Amino acid sequence: MPGDMPDFSRGAAYMNGTYVPMAEAKISVGDWGFIHSDVTYDVVHVWDGKFFRLEDHLDRFHRSLAGYRLSPPVSREEMREILARCVALSGLREAFVAMLSTRGVPRIYGSRRPEDCDNSFIAYACPWVDVIPKDVQERGAHLWIASIPRISPLSLDPTLKNYSWRDFVRGLFEAHDHGYDTAVLLDPEGYVTEGSGFNVFAVKGNVVMTPDRGALEGVTRRSVLDLCDELGLVGKIMPMRTEDLMEADEVFCSTTAGGVMPCARVGNATIGDNIMANDRPGPISVKLKEVYWRKHAEGWHATPVNYDDPEHPLLMQTTAA
Ligand SMILES: Cc1ncc(COP(=O)(O)O)c(C=O)c1O
Repeated sequence: MPGDMPDFSRGAAYMNGTYVPMAEAKISVGDWGFIHSDVTYDVVHVWDGKFFRLEDHLDRFHRSLAGYRLSPPVSREEMREILARCVALSGLREAFVAMLSTRGVPRIYGSRRPEDCDNSFIAYACPWVDVIPKDVQERGAHLWIASIPRISPLSLDPTLKNYSWRDFVRGLFEAHDHGYDTAVLLDPEGYVTEGSGFNVFAVKGNVVMTPDRGALEGVTRRSVLDLCDELGLVGKIMPMRTEDLMEADEVFCSTTAGGVMPCARVGNATIGDNIMANDRPGPISVKLKEVYWRKHAEGWHATPVNYDDPEHPLLMQTTAA
C-alpha cells in the first residue's frame, strides 16, 4: 500500500471512533455483546456502488436499539456517514455492510447491571457474501424443515435483529445431516417462521405467501411484496404451516445477502420431500429474482457512495424509482 494508508481492500471497520482494516476489528471478551449475546445489528447491502434501502435498514436498526434499550454514542446521521465511509475506504462496489451496537463492558468490575455498561457502535463493510451460495441458488436450494423449534417470541422478539442463533445452528446441523443446504424453523406452535438469515416464501397459483409470525420483517421481504404488486401476484403475510411448504408449487427465501433465492426441494423427517417441478427453481421465483436485480440496476431505492472522497462519502440522492 502507498505510504502508511492501511489496507482496507478486505473490508473497513469503524470501532468506537477509529477506522481499521476488517482483520483488526475486535471486541473485548468482557463485552456483554460477546458473553451474553447482548447486541443488536443490521445489514444493508451495496450493489454497484449504491446502498439499497439504506433508510429502511437504519429505521429497523433504531427499532432494534430501542427494543433492547441500547444507546450507542452516535446519531443516525453519523451512522449513515460512518457506514458510507467504511464502504468508500474499502473501495468495494459490492459489499455487505453491517452496523452493530453491543452492551459493552461494565464500568464497574463484575457488575450485573446493564445500566453500568457504555454501549458501543461498530460498523463494517466487507466483500459481498451470499447466505445461500450462488451455485446453490442456481440449482435451487434444498430447504430442511427442522425439528428444533425457534425460540419462543415471548423470550426473544424475532422482529428485533439478534445474534441468538443457537436454534438456527442446531437446525443447520440437522439439515446438513440430511443432505440439505439450509433449514427453516417452526415456532413452538408449529407455524413456519424463518431460517438463519432469511425469510421464507411459498407460492401457490399466483399467491406468494410469507409467515406472519416468528420472523424478522425483512427489508428484502418488503421488496418482494412490492414486486408482487407490480407483477400482478398476490403477496400475503399470513399464518403458514408445514403443509404450506410441502404443498407449494414453489418455495424461495429472501435476504439482503443474496436477494431472492429459489428453492428446488423442501424436506421434513416426518412428511418426506416436496421436490418442485423438474427439481429446479420455479418460474415465479426466477421472475422475482430477475426483476429484483434488474430494478437494482435501474437505481431502485439507491443511495450512491462517493468513493472519490471518503471524508464526504455520501452523495445523498436516494431514488425510489
Ligand atoms: C433471522 C433473519 N431473518 C430474515 C432476514 C432477512 O432480512 P433482510 O431481508 O432485511 O436482510 C435476516 C437477515 O439477516 C435474518 O437474520
